[in-house]
Amino acid sequence: MTNDHGQTTPSGTLANGDLTTVVTSADAIPVTAESDPGAPHGYAGELKAMLIDTETLSAKIRQLAEAVAADHTDDKPPVLVCVLKGAVMFLTDFVRALPMPAELEFMAVSSYGSATSSSGVVRILKDLDRDITGRRVIIIEDIVDSGLTLSWLRKNLDSRGASSIDVVALLRKPAAVKTDVHVKYIGFDIPSEFVVGYGLDYAERYRDLPFVGLLAEHMYR
Ligand code: IMP
Ligand code: MG
Repeated sequence: MTNDHGQTTPSGTLANGDLTTVVTSADAIPVTAESDPGAPHGYAGELKAMLIDTETLSAKIRQLAEAVAADHTDDKPPVLVCVLKGAVMFLTDFVRALPMPAELEFMAVSSYGSATSSSGVVRILKDLDRDITGRRVIIIEDIVDSGLTLSWLRKNLDSRGASSIDVVALLRKPAAVKTDVHVKYIGFDIPSEFVVGYGLDYAERYRDLPFVGLLAEHMYR
């Protein structure tokens, strides 16, 4: 199977071949002292590489928004459920690119686990403000790694009587292939490395970067 960059991907890993771009380690642009995209944001020397730049993110988000809108022909706007805090940047760009009305809801969950991996045991830190009974829900996720958080969230929202639940995830890691949680819209399949930026953090840092980068190993080892 090939994606829109003409790269070959392992069969069965794509939810939607035309929508998902495969990003490999070979696409990462190494950070050097002369060219450090983290430096203008106060993170000089903390990143190993640039993985997905701002322009590539914007183009993909427009594509995702158009794909979602094309599938939603209901009169009633869908309820976008943004998973705090990681999906905030994605949600705000996505909703502004979406060529149809949508309502916004926010949920904050915490999955017990280490700083760089999750356990699937989820606690609600902030719940939805409104009832979603009979509503079409679209979960906006930053990244699907083990898929444990998403799988829990989908079940939780389903139990509240949503009429449909779709998931839009900006990024997906290879581990997600092992879980059965269905993600209809995926922006990028990325390598199994710890990424930061564009909402994604390591110990609450780097969320403010306008691109997705790889964290230098010395920052978390
Ligand atoms: P999962 O339950 O393993 O799929 O993990 C989901 C959550 O873990 C995401 O919503 C992120 O908040 C976080 N996460 C997973 N991988 C990364 C990463 O590479 N960088 C930053 N956060 C990550
Ligand atoms: Mg996180």
